[in-house]
Amino acid sequence: MGRATKVVLAYSGGVDTTVCIPYLKNEWGVEEVITLAADLGQGDELGPIQKKAIASGASESLVENVTQTFIKDYAFRAIQANALYENRYPLSTSLARPLIAKLLVKAAEKYGADAVAHGCTGKGNDQVRFDVAIAALNPNIKVLAPAREWGMSREETIAYGEKFGIPSPVKKSSPYSIDRNLLGRSIEAGPLEDPWTEPLEEVYDMTKAIADTPDEPTYVEIGFERGIPTSLDGKALSPVDLISELNQLAGNQGIGRIDMIENRLVGIKSREIYEAPALLVLIQAHRDLESITLTKDVSQYKRGIEETYGNLIYNGLWYSPLKDALDAFIQKTQERVSGTIRMKLFKGNAYIVGRKSENSLYSPNMATYGADDEFDHKAAEGFIYVWGMETRIWSDKVRG
Ligand code: ARG
Repeated sequence: MGRATKVVLAYSGGVDTTVCIPYLKNEWGVEEVITLAADLGQGDELGPIQKKAIASGASESLVENVTQTFIKDYAFRAIQANALYENRYPLSTSLARPLIAKLLVKAAEKYGADAVAHGCTGKGNDQVRFDVAIAALNPNIKVLAPAREWGMSREETIAYGEKFGIPSPVKKSSPYSIDRNLLGRSIEAGPLEDPWTEPLEEVYDMTKAIADTPDEPTYVEIGFERGIPTSLDGKALSPVDLISELNQLAGNQGIGRIDMIENRLVGIKSREIYEAPALLVLIQAHRDLESITLTKDVSQYKRGIEETYGNLIYNGLWYSPLKDALDAFIQKTQERVSGTIRMKLFKGNAYIVGRKSENSLYSPNMATYGADDEFDHKAAEGFIYVWGMETRIWSDKVRG
């Protein structure tokens, strides 16, 4: 008896997930492997990937283009929550995992598979995200993770694949581990493992080096409706087109790079390089729009929710009761977060230079220092008397 009969394998076309196919069949007694590749706008050609899966022993090779869903139902939710893990990482990789998990579960149910599989190793966050999301969606499906158990080095993995006719990578393989989708790129390993080493320019692909950016700024107006970005410079765009265009505009100005040491869920620190031009710009713009459309208390309270929300995404709890409850809060707060943010993109920085909204709570007659000031200055005295009451009683006691 094998570990499972029929398995749907999350497939990227790389050596590791390809080797999973013969490994599952020959070492773990799986009878049938169906591969599933999710197109998340990573720009790979998925046609050859299908052929490769079949040549390596898969009975069927599925490719699903879910880029639009990915942006609309995952990324835009995260933008409404201003989700940044440890204040910096906009979760471009993390957000893809619950969607891939959903596709795996759906395919397993459709094809009558008793397990799903992925190629994650045992020390990353992605394995946690897959396993927990799959369990949340269908607790009866087994999850197999061959790379967590096989204990093969990179060379051994390639050699194992060659035995089953899987060609070793043609190009000298890059020293980096790279994950990419329409939202961004995550780069780790190789020379980056030394936190003191500056990343070489070669690690970047979506963002220009400052030395190569234009000498003129780019201005862009980002339109939001209920916290969702819907237009650039007045032109309504689909979620995917909006992200693609903004990636271009911001990346061209060298915006969107992050170099950080982050705390993985499994307790280790890791050095990560990220590129996520559009996503970072959108969170910055969204936050600013909230600053004129939300009241002080909602806005300040939401900050705490945002941190929790970012942690939930990072820690694999996208499908969880707390996430659902926080979503209800966030959606309520977004009802009036509509308007336009004007940004200046220049030499690696995105600056907010203007904001407007029909729902603006900014009151010119209250804010102004000019002649049309309507604020009742005298009323401040009584307010401050009461506001400072506790402090004066304390001071009297301690110093009086
Ligand atoms: N540390 C990031 C995360 O957990 C990115 C991991 C991406 N994987 C990679 N092979 N670079 O979301």
